[in-house]
Amino acid sequence: MIKHQVIVVGGGLAGLRAAIAATDGGAEAVVISQVYPVRSHSGAAQGGINAPLGNAEDGKDDTWERHALDTVKGSDYLADQDAVEVLTKKASSTIFELEHWGVPFSRTAEGKIAQRPFGGGAFPRTCYAADKTGRVLLHTLFEQALKRKIKIYPEWIVLALAVEENTCRGLIAYHLPTGTIEEFQAQVVIFATGGYGHVFARSTNSLINTGSGMAAAYYAGAPLKDMEFVQFHPTSLVGTNILITEGARGEGGYLINKNNERFMEKYAPKAMELAPRDIVARSILTEINEGRGIEDSYVYLDLRHLGKEKILERLPEIRDHAMHFSAVDPVEKPIPVQPGQHYSMGGIDTDIDGRTEVEGLLAAGECACVSVHGANRLGGNSLLDTVVFGHSAGVVAAQLVQGKPCVEDSSALLNEREKVNKRLRVLFSGTGNEDPAVIRNELKNIMFDKVGIFRRGEEIKEALSSIRELKEKYSRLRVIKSTRIFNIDFVRANELKGMLDLAEIIACGALQREESRGSHFRSDFPTRDDANWLKHTMVSNMLEAPQFSYKDVKITRWQPEARNY
Ligand code: FUM
Repeated sequence: MIKHQVIVVGGGLAGLRAAIAATDGGAEAVVISQVYPVRSHSGAAQGGINAPLGNAEDGKDDTWERHALDTVKGSDYLADQDAVEVLTKKASSTIFELEHWGVPFSRTAEGKIAQRPFGGGAFPRTCYAADKTGRVLLHTLFEQALKRKIKIYPEWIVLALAVEENTCRGLIAYHLPTGTIEEFQAQVVIFATGGYGHVFARSTNSLINTGSGMAAAYYAGAPLKDMEFVQFHPTSLVGTNILITEGARGEGGYLINKNNERFMEKYAPKAMELAPRDIVARSILTEINEGRGIEDSYVYLDLRHLGKEKILERLPEIRDHAMHFSAVDPVEKPIPVQPGQHYSMGGIDTDIDGRTEVEGLLAAGECACVSVHGANRLGGNSLLDTVVFGHSAGVVAAQLVQGKPCVEDSSALLNEREKVNKRLRVLFSGTGNEDPAVIRNELKNIMFDKVGIFRRGEEIKEALSSIRELKEKYSRLRVIKSTRIFNIDFVRANELKGMLDLAEIIACGALQREESRGSHFRSDFPTRDDANWLKHTMVSNMLEAPQFSYKDVKITRWQPEARNY
């Protein structure tokens, strides 16, 4: 049995920030990650991180209050406003800390951190490093982790949490390169495991983003919150669905349909291409559905008028992606784009410090729902969320372990290990003939088609019955490769259970919520209904079945209003 005081699961921004804070707080903290940390999905974030620094010429009047209001309005009033206040009050000092740690932010002519406009923001407040902001943040935090000699366990995949009397004792993990399965005992576990992008087809997410952390926390007794709110980024590259940053529109890019019309004029006449993502994604899909898309499946993002110099300076990776994956040079031709699943507003329910309902289990980043994004996240707020709430979770973890002696070998871990062994025996020696890859692809298409940008009750019901059929097939699974070493077949089969359960939870939540709010748009209930639905959806794992309940939204100073852009 391996023992540590604090185990952080996830080597992305939230995980590294948590491990750094826990270490600085005097705890012995380690990081377990499915991949080497610098390959985490945080590195795919492009356009930037929000803070009301007021560095842009037309952004001088920005304040944390205005950032908070934009975030709350962007969330369609579902965000908890006390949490939004924490996020936005801490934003500027967080950016300065990152800057002092060496993040190479792009600069203004006077040498200040440069800021670009992003959707739903009253001022240009998105700090950036060209179009690779996530990657430079990730490398900087990784350096800080190395400086503190934080031990990393790369290529370890968490199979289950061990919980007794509602207290987390540690976890069981699989080491991909050797096939070893180990018990890890900890006084505190922090989940920073990212989102579930690949529950949907057309995701901008890395292949590792299957929601395995959310599922493991849910099985361990931590409720999930607001899972029906799924963000579709308006612009992903047609074919691969690689992210094409909102920063491209922030720098002045236009969206045009097959008639060469800047169609956002109809949907958001003031904000145009910089309306919040839910609105822009729906507008694009409406254009496509009404026959004004190109080849019935996409629109164009036109950057040509920005000129080569600006594209090379501000959006070099976007140009590379478009050239390599679509054979389009944006300097000369518009980029073919369509909405793609991008982010999960919902996740493991936590308080402002990252505490879940399970003692000793904290969560931060996309896998958690604090909630600061409500029904629709603003671009540039997720990187901020990872570092602000990753930090808080690390601070709390250090406080929780202070003066607490390491307990004897926990029987919860041994019991959980036994359950994992049983599951493995079934997966490896099963005589079924169902192929996990086929189930996974069917699931992704069902979710994108029927629980996607526009949802109808009848279609969600169809999706639910298909998901339940797929769950039935899952019980007759066949894992072809029998070796324990580097068995990706096993990893995919194992995570598929969580994907199916999360899909069912998302679809049930979407069916029950008979209104439209932020990213959740019910064509059969097209308006927001504050009287009945200004509340968070909670789901717990009771007797192996999802149990739904609802919880009040915290409103501090911004009363719900109509969202006009
Ligand atoms: O468009 C983007 O660069 C994505 C940013 C975000 O999701 O915050």
